[in-house]
Amino acid sequence: MIRQIAIVGTGYVGLTTGACLASLGHNVVCADVDVEKVEQLRRAEVDILEPGLPELVAEGVAVGRLTFVVGAKRVFRASRPPIEAIFLCVPTPTGPDGAADLTAIESVIGEIREVLPQGCIVVNKSTVPVGTAARMERLLARKDISVVANPEFLSEGTAVRNFLYPERIVVGASNQHAAEGIAALYAKLGAPIVLTDTHSAELGKYAANCFLAMKLSYVNAIAELCERVGANVTDVTGSMGLDSRIGPAFLQPGPGWGGPCLPKDARALLQLASGMDLEFSLLEATITTNERQFARIVEKVRLAHGGTLAGARVGFLGLTFKAGTGDLRSSPALTVAQRLAAGGAVVQAYDPQVPVEKPGVTTGVRITSSPEAAAKNASVLVLLTEWPEFRKLDWPAIARQLDGKLVIDTRNHLDPEELAQAGLTWQGVGFGQATAC
Ligand code: UGA
Repeated sequence: MIRQIAIVGTGYVGLTTGACLASLGHNVVCADVDVEKVEQLRRAEVDILEPGLPELVAEGVAVGRLTFVVGAKRVFRASRPPIEAIFLCVPTPTGPDGAADLTAIESVIGEIREVLPQGCIVVNKSTVPVGTAARMERLLARKDISVVANPEFLSEGTAVRNFLYPERIVVGASNQHAAEGIAALYAKLGAPIVLTDTHSAELGKYAANCFLAMKLSYVNAIAELCERVGANVTDVTGSMGLDSRIGPAFLQPGPGWGGPCLPKDARALLQLASGMDLEFSLLEATITTNERQFARIVEKVRLAHGGTLAGARVGFLGLTFKAGTGDLRSSPALTVAQRLAAGGAVVQAYDPQVPVEKPGVTTGVRITSSPEAAAKNASVLVLLTEWPEFRKLDWPAIARQLDGKLVIDTRNHLDPEELAQAGLTWQGVGFGQATAC
């Protein structure tokens, strides 16, 4: 059945949700506070890198199923017949105490409270502390309005695919009718639907993201151990991943996990546990192990530059928190760059998604326009983001620019043989010198 839906917030979650729901045949009105962004979206111009999204937005706009307005309240004026469900997809950044800051959600609730049509369902997609849906119901203070917790499981760079081919859909509500109404929106997708209470839906989202973070910290610690005992991390994780209880995904060691979600959610879950007097040492160790990865890279650079960072010129390949996105939020590359700069090094970086004129990336980092420019006169080159094009670089040309010979590959992304042919030394993560036992 075609439904009338509103979305508040047109970030990668809101816009993907809106465009995908429109592609399923629903009528969707999206609201944002950013006037310029709304104008762009009306012209079907998408300014985030998200494969498939521009096409879906263009299609939705062209057929009139996807429209955009400024301000949450306006969605109700823009829709005839009335909106049946309004999805909140607004940011929930880390507050000063580590817990999620719900200011944006509360402000939208305040704005729409009195204009919500009779029986409209308020759906929260943002990642929020347990108890937020119940709190939203209290703030709304309307007996005819139910709040549903419907967390998103979209990864940047694959968000459209994740939405249209989901592994699960989680719908938490205290009102069975509202839960079934929201579950029905996704009926065409044929995914398993977990109908539950709001607390379980909210906690389930944190539990999943923090499990992924834990898996990555574990793998990064195993990589560190591989270096010490003389083992090969690719073989170790390869054998682990063949165990179906473990699975091969999220076993790739790297410079530490980052991005707008995992670091924020790990801190928020830790805060939630401590507020409940639960010592969650496993999660604490997950976070401190991640911090250690940044320090490990800095140390490798320091050693490569004769034991000091002072005066070191360091080339970076990649700045975004992972490949396939233009997002720099909580990027491990930026953390490492800041620490190198604090130690007296100069960082010159190239990233295919970060333009030279990008303002305020971080102090101490100069953005360059090519991998060769990032390598120019550098004593060491460090790969931080696994952009596919970095596999096809002109290594002899890069070697001519570099002062030193070392390439530190924090993602095990490059071909050591190819680098060797260009006279460069490849140093990956998790490869020790094997010694006979
Ligand atoms: C994450 C989750 O994967 C999504 O399921 C979730 O919906 C989303 O957060 C969210 O809460 O909105 P995302 O932030 O896009 O998605 O990033 P991930 O793909 O999870 O990557 C996180 C970090 O782990 C990146 O820095 C990435 O480079 C790193 N990573 C990932 C590795 O180092 N190794 C791997 O094998 C996988």
